[in-house]
Amino acid sequence: MRVLLGVTGCIGAYKAAEVLRGLQRAGVDVRVIMTRSAAEFVRPLTFEALSGKPVVVGMYERPDYAEIEHISVAREADLLLVAPATANILAKFAHGIADDFLSTVYLSNTNPVLIAPAMNVEMWRHPATQANLATLREIGCEFVNPGDGYQACGEVGVGRLAEVEDIVAAALGMLERTREPKRADLEGERLLITAGPTVEDLDPVRFITNRSSGRMGYAIAEAARDRGARVTLVSGPVKLPHPAGVETVPVRSTAEMYEAVMSRIGDATVFVGCAAVADFRPAARAPQKIKKRGASRLTIELEPTEDIIGTVGRSARDNGLLVVGFAAESESLIAHAEEKMRAKGMDLIVANDITREDAGFDVETNAATLLRSDGSRTDWPLQPKRELAARLLDEIAAMKKKR
Ligand code: PMT
Repeated sequence: MRVLLGVTGCIGAYKAAEVLRGLQRAGVDVRVIMTRSAAEFVRPLTFEALSGKPVVVGMYERPDYAEIEHISVAREADLLLVAPATANILAKFAHGIADDFLSTVYLSNTNPVLIAPAMNVEMWRHPATQANLATLREIGCEFVNPGDGYQACGEVGVGRLAEVEDIVAAALGMLERTREPKRADLEGERLLITAGPTVEDLDPVRFITNRSSGRMGYAIAEAARDRGARVTLVSGPVKLPHPAGVETVPVRSTAEMYEAVMSRIGDATVFVGCAAVADFRPAARAPQKIKKRGASRLTIELEPTEDIIGTVGRSARDNGLLVVGFAAESESLIAHAEEKMRAKGMDLIVANDITREDAGFDVETNAATLLRSDGSRTDWPLQPKRELAARLLDEIAAMKKKR
């Protein structure tokens, strides 16, 4: 397996040498590309000695560079890993600027891309950087997010390069996935998936909702599509693009989600309820904006919403539908998830511990316990939602095969 390791200019550049060694220990062949500013922090000779290959810095600086051409370099690797990645290189990648060797290679690259950003906390928080990260995620780049703590610049916050072991593990995981032959083990299955939040309006401008980003449900939909399933995604309002090759049905309220699911469930073989559905909605939606009018207290009456998965679960017993739910719990995770699985007639439930900052709502990663209706369970450690989706689909495919 071959990795192209891009190193950009920040204090964490020296750690790229440890990343290179970690990959080599796992039998990976590594070629290094450095930006000019990276070469101010660590000499290219370090990487040349470690990798045994010429290190490209500027495009036209050495005569032997002429033989290293950006398109062939991009094609010769299985993964482009950029560690550390500065705010500057993220901006170039996000906007298609190709003004040095690394950004030119990125643009001509068709292989998976893994990025480990590192920068000052304010640069990380800046809306421009966050927008660039969002663009790159949408394009399909994966990230090893920076850590939180003391930074070389003296400030404290998010921005330090992730731990070397985590970067190496993420790169090896991606390489493993590229090696796996494409499975079509869900061919013939029709998955109906809910994702995102629901929104319950109080008046024309106010509403009740939650922090679901839709990422978990969208990851399941995309992975199921890639494994040959026909996928319908009923989605609450999220900022993610509609996945290609998936029928996406946008909804807003629980009532709309209920209608969208019930009118399609007859055609499904698997239902996955990943949406964070509001359990209550205002008993009446005010037609005009609610006025303060000197009131010191306002009481809003709420009524229960439709129980989507409960209704699906009850009807599933007769038609062989496989029902998979999620539980987001802040206490007694397993006990509450088990209770939901039983009460709502699910075959499987994925219990996420939302007390962890890196799991559950609105993050790229998740950690969960899969509970089965036969009482068995499996713990899934913290991993990208895309990988957790793949594990869940392995389980679904195996169960469908047995039925
Ligand atoms: O969207 P992300 O930011 O990626 O976050 C993912 C997630 C945390 C939202 C997701 O992994 C998750 O846990 N979804 C379920 C969240 C939840 O609030 O579950 P719950 O415990 O309220 O509901 C249990 C199950 O019943 C869920 O499958 C839910 O979709 C379903 N339900 C709940 C209420 C209702 N009225 N109808 C339902 O179908």
